[in-house]
Parts: sequence; C-alpha cells; structure tokens
Amino acid sequence: MSTTLHSPSSAFQSAARVSGRAAYDQLYRAAETAPESFWAQLARNQLHWFQPFQRVLDWQLPRAQWFPGGLINACYNCVDRHLSSWRRNKAALIWEGENFEQRILTYQELHRKVSKFANVLKSLGYRQGDRAIIYMPMTPEAAIAMLACARLGIIHSVVFAGFSSEALKTRMEDLEANLVITADAGRRRGREIMLKRNVDAALAEYAGVRHCIVYKHLGAGIEMHHQRDLWWDDLMFGMSEDCPAEPLDSEHPLYVLYTSGTTGKPKGVVHTTAGYLLQTHMTMQWVFDLREQDIFWCTADIGWVTGHSYLIYGPLSMGATTLLYEGAPDWPEPDRFWRLIEKYRVNIFYTSPTAIRSFIRQGDAWPQKHDLSSLRLLGSVGEPINPAAWEWYYHIIGGGRCPIVDTWWQTETGAILIAPMPGAVATKPGSATLPLPGIFPAIVDAKGQPVAEGQQGFLVMRQPWPSMFRTLWRDETRFREIYWDKIPGLYFTGDAARRDADGYYWLLGRVDDVINVSGHRLSTMEVESAMVRHAAVAEAAAVGRPHEIKGQGLVVFATLKGGQAASPELVDELRDWVGKEIGGFARPDEIRLVEALPKTRSGKIMRRLLREIVTTRSVSGDTTTLEDYAVLLKLSQQGKEEEELLAHEAQKEKV
Ligand code: PRX
Repeated sequence: MSTTLHSPSSAFQSAARVSGRAAYDQLYRAAETAPESFWAQLARNQLHWFQPFQRVLDWQLPRAQWFPGGLINACYNCVDRHLSSWRRNKAALIWEGENFEQRILTYQELHRKVSKFANVLKSLGYRQGDRAIIYMPMTPEAAIAMLACARLGIIHSVVFAGFSSEALKTRMEDLEANLVITADAGRRRGREIMLKRNVDAALAEYAGVRHCIVYKHLGAGIEMHHQRDLWWDDLMFGMSEDCPAEPLDSEHPLYVLYTSGTTGKPKGVVHTTAGYLLQTHMTMQWVFDLREQDIFWCTADIGWVTGHSYLIYGPLSMGATTLLYEGAPDWPEPDRFWRLIEKYRVNIFYTSPTAIRSFIRQGDAWPQKHDLSSLRLLGSVGEPINPAAWEWYYHIIGGGRCPIVDTWWQTETGAILIAPMPGAVATKPGSATLPLPGIFPAIVDAKGQPVAEGQQGFLVMRQPWPSMFRTLWRDETRFREIYWDKIPGLYFTGDAARRDADGYYWLLGRVDDVINVSGHRLSTMEVESAMVRHAAVAEAAAVGRPHEIKGQGLVVFATLKGGQAASPELVDELRDWVGKEIGGFARPDEIRLVEALPKTRSGKIMRRLLREIVTTRSVSGDTTTLEDYAVLLKLSQQGKEEEELLAHEAQKEKV
C-alpha cells in the first residue's frame, strides 16, 4: 500500500464544489445522522418531479423502494428541464466518428429528436413496460433511443455492440424484448461491425420482437425484413415534435443491463428511475466537480454501466456537455484520445486503467504532441489502478495539476460509491479513498464480522442507497442468493478490500468466479459454458491471470471428447468459437488442451489450483481433496515447458 498523499492544489480546492476535508466530513456526517432527510432534501432540490414523493425509503431487506409515491421522468430531467434556460442552446452531445466526422446536438435539438423518436415508438404501439433492446454503435442515435424509451417508460436494455448474435439472443430471450433498435453497422479500427446482421441472426431464433428499427449509419449492405424492419429516418420523417414525457412512478424500471455473474447465464440488473437519477446526478457534482462550462468525456462504451451513468444520465441530468467518440483509442494513430482532448478542450476525462496502461506502452511522445492544458480532473474506473499507471496518468496526462478520482462502483450499484471528492479528500495512488456521503461500507469476514484495520476481507454495504439495483430481471431468487444471503443483512459486492489507518479503501479484486478483463466483467462460468457447447470439448475450466495491460487475462483449460485430437488449429478454432459465442472481447488469451482437470473427490473442478498454476506456476495450499494429484503436476509441468519453449523461441527471434 502506497502512503503518498496527493492533496489537491489550493487553486483546485478553493474552486471546488466541496472544498476541504472538513466539508466532506460534514456532508458524510449529515448523511450518517439522518440518511433519509439527507437524500430527501437532495431529491427535492436537484430533480424535477411531476408529483412529490410521499416517503423517502421503504426498506425490507433486500427490497428497497426509494421515494415512493413520486412521479418523475428521467428523460424530462435530462432534456426538457434545460430548455427553460440559456442551456437550450448549449451543446448536450458532441459526437466524433472514427473518420473525424462531427455532430453537435444542443439541448433543444436533442429534445426535438428525442420527442420525435418517442412519437415513432408510440405510433408503433409501444408503451410503458415494453422492453427494447438497443444494439447500436456509439452515435447520438443510441442516446436518443435510450432517452426516448425513458420518456415513455419503455424499459431499455443496451447490449454492447461487441457482443455476438448469440449473446444478443440470450439477452432478448431473458428480457422478453418486443422491440429492437439497431444500426446497419458501426465502425472500429477502420472495420465495419455488421450489427444488423447480428440482429438478423438473433431474430432467426427469437420470435418475440415485433419491430426492428434500423438507423442507417454507414450505408452498409444489409437485408430488411418486410414489415418487421423499419428505417429510422423513414419513421422520423414528418413525425410530430410534440411528445410530453410520461409521469412515471419513482420505482418504474428505467433499464435492465446484463452483466456477468458466477453462473453461465448473464444477470439482468434492474435499475429504476428516481434513485438512480439522483445518485448519478449527485456524483457528477461530488466526484467530477462538474462546472457549467465543462466538456466532460467518459470514454466508456454506451453498452456498459459506465456509459449509462456517466455518458448519458449523469451528465445530461446536470445539463452538461458530454463527448461521445465512436472508435478506437489508437485510430488512426495512438494519439487519438489526446487529439480529441486538445480539439474539444476537454476538462474532465474519465477512462480505465487498462486504457492508461496501453497508452504508457505506446510512449510519452504521443500525449506530448498535444496541448492537454484544458484538463482539470482525471478519473479512473473498472479495476484497481496500479500506482505506476496512476503516476503516469497524473504527470503525463494531468501535467501534475489534475487530481485523479479513482472511482469504485459496479453495474449493480448504479453510481459511484467509493471515490474521493477531489477538492476535499487527498488521494493515495491505488486507493479509491473514502465512501461518498450516504454510503456505508464495511470490510468483514465470512460471518459478517468486521476485520481489523489493514486486514483483507469482503467489501459489503451496510445500508441501502438510492441508485442500488432493485432486483435481477425475473430472478428474485438469484438476486437474494448472490447478493443478500452470502452475508446475511449486508449487500455482498463480490470484491475483496482492505482499509488502512486513515480509513481509505483499497480494492483487491473479485472473490467470486468473475474476472475483470480490460475493466469488463467476464464470468468464467459463461466462458466455460461456451467452450463445452463446442462439439470437441468435454470439460473446461476458465481462470484469470495477471496481464500487463488488461489487468487480467483469460486462460482456459479444456479436455476433449474421445476421438478428438488436440492441435494448434483446434486451439485457434476454440478461441474463435468463444469470441463468436460471447463477443470478441471474451476470446481467451490462451487455451490449454489437457488430459484431465484437477478435481475434488466430489467432482468439483479446483479452479483455485488452476489459478495458481497460471499465475505462479507452482501450487501450494491444501490439496488433500484432490482426486488425482498427478493431474496437477502434469498441468503445472506443461505450463513450465510451454514457457521454456516460448523463451527459447523469443531467444531465436532476437538472434
Ligand atoms: O471488482 C470491481 C471492479 O469492477 C467490478 C464491477 O464491474 P462492472 O459491474 O462491470 O462495472 C465496472 C464499472 C463500474 C467491481 O466489483 N472495479 C470497478 N471499479 C473499480 C474496481 N476495482 C478497483 N477499483 C475501482 N475503481
């Protein structure tokens, strides 16, 4: 644990919304003393309500209802309410495409397009409670689609455009989606990603969708199915711009976002309206210290929770200008992000440690070519940021003047829960620092008892918070089991952590069968299920191992069915197979075809041992329950031999 304290400069601190440690302490204490009145006051002052709420919180563990009785609309809060001031002519979205195309939508223009598109949805018969899958590239239309759904109370589920047709179908089925909104194709590193074709493949096996609305983005060659498929532009043409936002219950589901869990099946995390909106809105102030003139850039894709909360709902509810970039960070050259910062004079930049590590590898010359002096604040999310990456980010990108907010949260938490308030809390490289007001974490052992200072334990939350997810879509049982029954009475995050003498939190990674690859959560079970769907595979076990850039990489051990021969071609085929089944980002770094997997006497695969093999190459700890210790030795040996072979080859290449 590094103990270097970085305090904000006095210039930053004096201009900050929350200035000085005493201000943070006071806010935290206010929320601790009277959490309900703390949140109620913010909800009243910061959000627009069609009808005030009657109570603040109904909490019957694990069921939370925030602000019951209230009527509200997320889209109204993100768009309409800014029209009554000068903000109507402020840029809401700045979009840049990979080929340097540019579009800027003011709040007024956004309102016009969202209202028209909401009328399109209405005219097709969609209404409150319907479920739309949004499978789109990072374009303004993706935001318009989300907001139009929110306007009518249609529950949206954005599926990351990197997911395969198979993954798309699974999500459609689980959600019982009746509408799909997509584009012909998206662009990444000069390639066209054929989104509509993936939708067609998914819809060939799922019949519940009435319409598929297609936004023509690149003019790629696609097929349109008669009656089912409709062009976005045709539908928008001549459509009325008048579409009042529906007053919705505070607890109306805003969206379902699928995330990986500890089983083979992704979980539909359900977020509702008022509490989610309030906390994304507040964290824009508390963590990002947002000012009216700022250009805010979160580099996450719209398909992940970070894209929902900090590209769309948080910034827009604040009336901010949010930058949307469709494309790769290193396209056409490794300085694309720095070019964007310079061009748009970005003030707040929020990205992942994986991205930072890959920038470090590309060299300092790329950022140094650009004027990054507009930056005021830097953010990090998705995985622990290692101190070396932190220092580089701080000095090379932030010029030593921008505080870094290391933000800990999850798809389930909806908004940032642990992070510094940059003008108030001094940071330590690698620590997410302190909980935000109204957030009451603890670090406990398996029985729920707090562990001693500096000791590792499970990170839990002791009290509900407004943006918490409410359930798993159509799976209340799993919701209870995974999050609330593990340590009764407490919310189980699935993360290990420790707290130091200053009360700072240090996140130590997942304790379940979830790995964090490039800041994307990946279920090892999901990968294993995909592997065994291949005709040649008998059994598979997936584990993570440290990866210099991605944080963690994926290694899969597999045994083959009788009569199948291992070959380098089969390994390649299996890697592609996993990519096809889940999405390109899930392609394993390595697949090892083995004779047998180490198992306990009851037949459970011992993943812990495999993890040790891929990380340390040796095995320690209790192995008495192993069915066949020889299997383990063999696997370990195989790894060593491979390593030697690789080293040998690398040596040859050098020569
Ligand atoms: O393990 C933690 C890690 O990412 C997990 C949540 O992943 P996901 O739901 O995909 O959301 C990612 C973006 C919010 C957590 O359980 N994680 C997230 N942020 C941090 C982190 N680990 C360490 N430090 C962080 N700042």
